[in-house]
Amino acid sequence: MTDIRLIEPNEAAVLATIDASARAEPWAAVVFDGLLAKPTTSALVAAEAGQPAAYVLVRSSGLEAEILMIATASAARRRGLGRALFEALVAQLKTAGTKELLLEVAADNDAALALYKAQGCVTVGRRTNYYPRGNGAIDALLLRLVLS
Ligand SMILES: CC(C)(COP(=O)(O)OP(=O)(O)OC[C@H]1O[C@@H](n2cnc3c(N)ncnc32)[C@H](O)[C@@H]1OP(=O)(O)O)[C@@H](O)C(=O)NCCC(=O)NCCS
Repeated sequence: MTDIRLIEPNEAAVLATIDASARAEPWAAVVFDGLLAKPTTSALVAAEAGQPAAYVLVRSSGLEAEILMIATASAARRRGLGRALFEALVAQLKTAGTKELLLEVAADNDAALALYKAQGCVTVGRRTNYYPRGNGAIDALLLRLVLS
């Protein structure tokens, strides 16, 4: 069973543990700690059988919010956790009166792009050669979801 809850400001280690099992270049707990200390930043965590397995980190400034990261532990992928977190976040933002959700994604990140597009996100911009990749770089796409 999937359980989604708001992360407490002192739970940076929970996010760092998930990140370490989700991404090739994970952020350290100190990075999450700094982000969670900001009043504008919050995170939702999804747990399976009591085990935290995915998170979404968001910065919100009233009318606009931005996903800073969403990640699911490699072993827990394709079980709907990313989708469940995204939907929970959208519901939370709508309740708070947020009008639009923005996010940046590497143009070659097929999994994330499929998730976002399925949720109704639309590409509204492109940043050329934004993310380093080997000897080169890949574009970033800017996506937007209108919430109201
Ligand atoms: C993107 C990510 C968060 C998706 O998490 P997830 O929990 O596996 O996603 P879900 O199981 O909820 O998938 C929801 C939908 O997204 C799409 N999707 C997810 N993974 C996909 C993949 N590997 N290939 C194609 N589509 C994919 C599908 O449409 C999927 O629905 P379906 O399973 O019914 O077909 C996960 O792949 C991840 O952590 N990637 C590394 C971190 C990252 O790149 N984050 C995004 C930064 S912008």
